[in-house]
Amino acid sequence: MAEFSPATIDAPATLNHERLKQWVADIATLTQPDRIHWADGSQREYDRLCAEMVDSGMLVKLNPKMRKNSYLACSDPSDVARVEDRTFICSANKADAGPTNNWEDPTVMRKTLNGLFNGCMRGRTMYVIPFSMGPLGSPIAHIGVEITDSPYVTINMRTMTRMGSDVLTVLGSDGEFVPCIHSVGAPLAPGEKDARWPCNRTTKYIVHYPETREIWSYGSGYGGNALLGKKCFALRIASNMAREEGWLAEHMLILGVENPQGEKTYVAAAFPSACGKTNFAMLIPPRTFNGWKISTVGDDIAWIKPGKDGRLYAINPEAGFFGVAPGTSEQTNFNAMATLKENVIFTNVALTDDGDVWWEGMTKEPPAHLIDWTGQDWTPEIGRSSGRKAAHPNSRFTAPASQCPSIDPHWQDPNGVPISAFIFGGRRATTVPLVHEAFNWNFGVYMAATLGSETTAAAVGQQGIVRRDPFAMLPFCGYHMGDYFNHWLQMGALVKNKPRIFCVNWFRRNEKGEFMWPGFGENMRVLKWIVERVHGRTGAVESGLGWMPGFDDLDWTGSETTRAEFEPLMQVDAQAWSSELAQHGDWFEKLSDRLPRQFPLKRELLSLRLAHGTAAR
Ligand code: GTP
Ligand code: SPV
Ligand code: MN
Repeated sequence: MAEFSPATIDAPATLNHERLKQWVADIATLTQPDRIHWADGSQREYDRLCAEMVDSGMLVKLNPKMRKNSYLACSDPSDVARVEDRTFICSANKADAGPTNNWEDPTVMRKTLNGLFNGCMRGRTMYVIPFSMGPLGSPIAHIGVEITDSPYVTINMRTMTRMGSDVLTVLGSDGEFVPCIHSVGAPLAPGEKDARWPCNRTTKYIVHYPETREIWSYGSGYGGNALLGKKCFALRIASNMAREEGWLAEHMLILGVENPQGEKTYVAAAFPSACGKTNFAMLIPPRTFNGWKISTVGDDIAWIKPGKDGRLYAINPEAGFFGVAPGTSEQTNFNAMATLKENVIFTNVALTDDGDVWWEGMTKEPPAHLIDWTGQDWTPEIGRSSGRKAAHPNSRFTAPASQCPSIDPHWQDPNGVPISAFIFGGRRATTVPLVHEAFNWNFGVYMAATLGSETTAAAVGQQGIVRRDPFAMLPFCGYHMGDYFNHWLQMGALVKNKPRIFCVNWFRRNEKGEFMWPGFGENMRVLKWIVERVHGRTGAVESGLGWMPGFDDLDWTGSETTRAEFEPLMQVDAQAWSSELAQHGDWFEKLSDRLPRQFPLKRELLSLRLAHGTAAR
């Protein structure tokens, strides 16, 4: 067994951060890699890693005439999405993880993981990836170092974060970093041929130690399981930091709305995984909305801190988009398609005969022949008869945010952008109206805390089941959800100029199962109403759920939606809501003693309002 020391880990000569070097040596001694490579973040390094992966079969280089400097990776069929049942919050006390997180005693978990990581990088290169979440050196940013045995993770981290040598410079000799350890969990015996997508088919662990702010991930090479800066750090660990330090780490997009007078309003919106954040963040208003412009600050995560002026300021801690491919087209998300022209890593989409990519929904008519994400021939006929999709429903693109045509000029502003509204939305076929506004902060927190949504392909498991996904954070809150609600209530008490809170649902369906709302660019009509509400410039009707736009309060220019179509979209059905409130009750029971005291009372009030008109608030 090889013993590594700070002197034998091939660290850059200029690095004098002893704690970092010792940690890397310790992990190397545990995992026994053949080589250690410190990622410098350069284009040369990226190109070299890609070329190596093309040679090993892990990547296919796309036709540069169609997509410059872009690649396709297809994963093992057992490794296609986040694994929520293998995700753990190992706080010292079980109660602090709360009933919505998997928990294991940290001592027991460390023993398990030490066993699994022992020798797990044999035959592989260990990559050391210093990265910053947020603009380098920003007061809101935080640094992490990911150790991984996956070159695929390394190139993805370069696009998704600010990664490489510059981060080591900022770290200096004793800067703080979150240690993130990742292995695909597939050591190679001498001479053994590597799998195209190495992973561990049977054993996966995504583990967080909130008190010591550490992440250990084993067995998966996919997305949020393996790119540890994203969900593991920027949400699960950061939510713990945020609670301690008085800020918010949220599963939210950030966008700017500019009106024809040049007035800019920023909003942040939380929708669960695969429920429309990327699309909303890059929205293009209907053609008739002359002079209205949407700009993108972020599409998945927001770190939000109180500013000196009593407002909340948000940064996007990421540098790229890891977006859902299916459904993305020139019609639904023109800006995403433009972002995907070059420098993209596609994962689990289909390959066309001319060396480009395709996924369901990219074009109306599928190509006559494809290689699907599992490597098999695919034709529209095969698709129809077998029901097999050409691209996996959770197939994704990794692309630099800087390539997005709608990117906001302030997207890298170290101080963030001021937030005027929070929007919460789930995927609900019934019950929840197109839009409503909470009467006040605390009621808004109640609505966000009881958000329901149908499960999607972003996580392994059954799809289309309505579950409570509070704040779209159910899989991402790194501590007790009841404490998290209390933290939001306290932030409300602390922040003088609070954003208003709105709820939306783009996904209501009619009896035929069709979406009742056209969605995408048409969501601008709802967004405009929200912005005008923030500035006190438009009307609303009082309802049991809060303030709602009447038909004439929305801007319908250029729309074909009629009053008769709008009504069912906005309908608040007493019976459906009575069962919804029963589910709030079940949900609250689960959180028991840490549930905010005011929630059961709020539920009673809501119940009265919905049953008897609108009086009590
Ligand atoms: P994560 O990256 O998993 O966090 O997902 P996300 O919230 O960014 O979701 P995204 O915008 O990628 O959308 C997921 C799916 O929903 C895609 O297939 C979209 O085409 C579809 N979608 C997005 N917005 C709308 C909408 O307004 N209406 C309808 N019907 N579908 C939408
Ligand atoms: C999500 O599931 O919310 C994602 C994709 O954004 S992943 O990075 O895999 O978590
Ligand atoms: Mn997400």
